Amino acid sequence: MDSILSSTTFQLRKPLLCKQTPPFLPIKISINRLKKQSHCVQKSSFSPRPLRIFASSQAAPSAEASTSSSYSIPSEMKAWTYTEYGGVEVLKLESNVAVPQVKEDQVLIKVAAAALNPVDFKRRLGKFKATDSPLPLENLTKKISSDRSGYDVAGVVVKVGSQVKGLKEGDEVYGDISEKALDGPKQFGSLAEYTAVEEKLLALKPKNLDFAQAASLPLAIETAYEGLEKAGFSEGKSILVLGGAGGVGSLVIQLAKQVFGASKVAATSSTGKLEFLKSLGADLAIDYTKENFEDLPEKFDVVYDTVGKKNDLDVALLGTELDMIYVRMTTGQCDRAVKAVKEGGSVVALTGAVTPPGFRFVVTSNGDSLKKLNPYLESGKVKALVDPKGPFPFDKVNEAFSYLETNRATGKVVIYPIP
Ligand SMILES: NC(=O)c1ccc[n+]([C@@H]2O[C@H](COP(=O)([O-])OP(=O)(O)OC[C@H]3O[C@@H](n4cnc5c(N)ncnc54)[C@H](OP(=O)(O)O)[C@@H]3O)[C@@H](O)[C@H]2O)c1
Repeated sequence: MDSILSSTTFQLRKPLLCKQTPPFLPIKISINRLKKQSHCVQKSSFSPRPLRIFASSQAAPSAEASTSSSYSIPSEMKAWTYTEYGGVEVLKLESNVAVPQVKEDQVLIKVAAAALNPVDFKRRLGKFKATDSPLPLENLTKKISSDRSGYDVAGVVVKVGSQVKGLKEGDEVYGDISEKALDGPKQFGSLAEYTAVEEKLLALKPKNLDFAQAASLPLAIETAYEGLEKAGFSEGKSILVLGGAGGVGSLVIQLAKQVFGASKVAATSSTGKLEFLKSLGADLAIDYTKENFEDLPEKFDVVYDTVGKKNDLDVALLGTELDMIYVRMTTGQCDRAVKAVKEGGSVVALTGAVTPPGFRFVVTSNGDSLKKLNPYLESGKVKALVDPKGPFPFDKVNEAFSYLETNRATGKVVIYPIP
């Protein structure tokens, strides 16, 4: 175990056994069709007429930017917002947030379900300050309050911009609302009753999926797909997925096997999730609390690292005793990943420092990828995986984040219903 050093002052430490979680149980969520159940989005009983929304913090929409809507859309909504960087405690559920205006290439979605991603809380913690959109401001006369949380959405189109060609009111859609996850992401998010999204970032919701399942997919499946493509993954190749039980990893396993035609899929997780990995199609499930994947004699065409870690030596003080101190020193995950790849193979890293020949990329939201993958979702070959601790109701978003931030989620943490 060369990631853990031992000497007279360094004590070899047994790997920490993670608390076992119950085996993953696919859950069935009964969701009524939004249009039938929602009291927020009702087709107006009056004849359709142009609807003007003058939210307190927004300018009136230009005539060209949006068409009228036959839905009754309020000017204010509930949304999770924050006005300073910080932990989960800075998140606030506000009820007077302006419903976003629709630009000409956008649609307004009545949000039915949303999903959380680590980028949400990393952004909230201020890790991407340099490229983030400006934080909402308070000014003397009115509060300018923007929802800044949430990338993944599933819901119903209630209004379309004037240049929107492929979507119409009433369409059930899903997508990741921020084209670039880190580069000027949207100020308003999907953890709100309404959100405005470019048409090109959306696809029609797969017919067999409910809103919670659909919301679980966009950012994670687009990342899984883009990484496999960038690594040149193709039929007959083998792959090792590090972090196979997480939001992205669970989809990398499925796409590698079902969409790309992998010859062999290996994946890592803690002890309690090994059966879950196999249920997704992994031929080899590796318990990272007991085995070092880089010590396996077998090497892989692609290693897809969704775990990452600092490349600097990660030093943890374990304790002191008389004149001895006990520390654990761990090298970066990507360092280890490159030892498990065949010569000429590729190592994809999503986070943390990267060791050559590994490469890192940041996902680009793309509705066309979702459209391409819809047949695999509709046939059931690729499954949406909602973490069994959820879905969390809208008023429990902060609890859902606390859970996601444990780094132990299985599949995706979903928020449903959204009122
Ligand atoms: N670059 C990009 O465009 C991009 C896109 C998406 C995500 N990301 C990043 O990729 C990372 C993963 O995202 P995610 O949504 O998949 O996160 P996630 O769902 O929160 O990942 C949680 C999973 O990680 C597993 N895990 C934790 N430590 C592990 C280890 N040492 N070995 C194997 N598995 C381990 C856990 O399984 P156990 O409980 O079994 O440990 C858990 O199931 C995040 O840092 C995220 O920010 C980057």
